[in-house]
Amino acid sequence: MAKKQILIVPGDGIGQEVTAAGKKVLEAIALKFNHEFTYDEALIGHVAIEATGDPLPEATLVKMKNSDAVLFGAVGHPKYDNDPSAKVRPEQGLLKMRKELGLYANIRPIKLFDELLGASSIKPEILKGADILFFRELTGDIYFGEKGRKNNNDTAFDVAEYSRYEVERIGRKAFEAAGTRRKKLCSVDKANVLETSRLWREVIQKLALEYPDIEVEYQFVDATAMLLIKDPCRFDVVVTANLFGDILTDEASQIAGSMGMLASASIGDGTGVYEPIHGSAHDITGKGIANPLASILSVALLLDISFGMKEESELVISAVDKVLKAGYRTGDIADAHTPQEKLLGTHAMGEEVLKFL
Ligand code: IPM
Ligand code: MG
Repeated sequence: MAKKQILIVPGDGIGQEVTAAGKKVLEAIALKFNHEFTYDEALIGHVAIEATGDPLPEATLVKMKNSDAVLFGAVGHPKYDNDPSAKVRPEQGLLKMRKELGLYANIRPIKLFDELLGASSIKPEILKGADILFFRELTGDIYFGEKGRKNNNDTAFDVAEYSRYEVERIGRKAFEAAGTRRKKLCSVDKANVLETSRLWREVIQKLALEYPDIEVEYQFVDATAMLLIKDPCRFDVVVTANLFGDILTDEASQIAGSMGMLASASIGDGTGVYEPIHGSAHDITGKGIANPLASILSVALLLDISFGMKEESELVISAVDKVLKAGYRTGDIADAHTPQEKLLGTHAMGEEVLKFL
């Protein structure tokens, strides 16, 4: 029996609907394993701007720092997407949270549940057995360098910057993870063009000497984008910079059938944050059709990584597996050619998972 304080930060759009399902899974786990989980809630993103003018209010940050883990939804609102002049944006809340909590490692497991082989747009024979663990660096790169305008506003710049220690700490996490898996690590960069990538490669090459049992390969990001679709099974652990990781993990989500299936963990030296990789999806917000499984699988990562509760975590994953085996699907993972599937909304899908807990 363990006592844990969990902060729920639903954020915007479908973030609200999916984290509600995730929280119910936490409650069910606490009950079953006799843990004492307590919950609090906080604002981030567009909803926080509306309420306080700030996409990451100080009160939210303080609560995050004082929690044992954060279950996060999504941030974003379409009103900003076509307004490049907006000075305050929901995403600033997310980026500031990553920086303030020192969440330098974003772990995104891409694992295809057997039942979803038909839900992907990639051929089943190419997909079968795909299981990739991405380590995306999360607090550096072009995301956090100096940005601005010059030449009377006619020129814009975003500076990409990495320091040796930043590459080393994410690299180490990736090597360690590879050691517990198939012992293969692919480091992705653009070292034929970028100086940050040349430093990246230099640091990973040096680290590799400390991990002689890990087979390391180096790929350029453009080739990786191609190889992920051509032969996803060739990858085990992948480590890459912030921007490349952002793009490649959206691409890789298609290996798992849908963005609606992918969970992520953002960790550093303090509180860990767990969230689906999908965004706020305002096109389906409020319709009750969003896939809650990414949030539920984020709960599985939270239990495992932040609380060290392996058995609890595996139970959540196996419940998701059973729900899929029973034929339940949300719209994003439904296969039009499989009439025996049962189409469910967000709430009903969450309830099915609870039944298997
Ligand atoms: C992600 C998202 C964010 C990112 C956005 C919302 C700022 O795409 O978590 O992958 O680019 O990091
Ligand atoms: Mg992204």
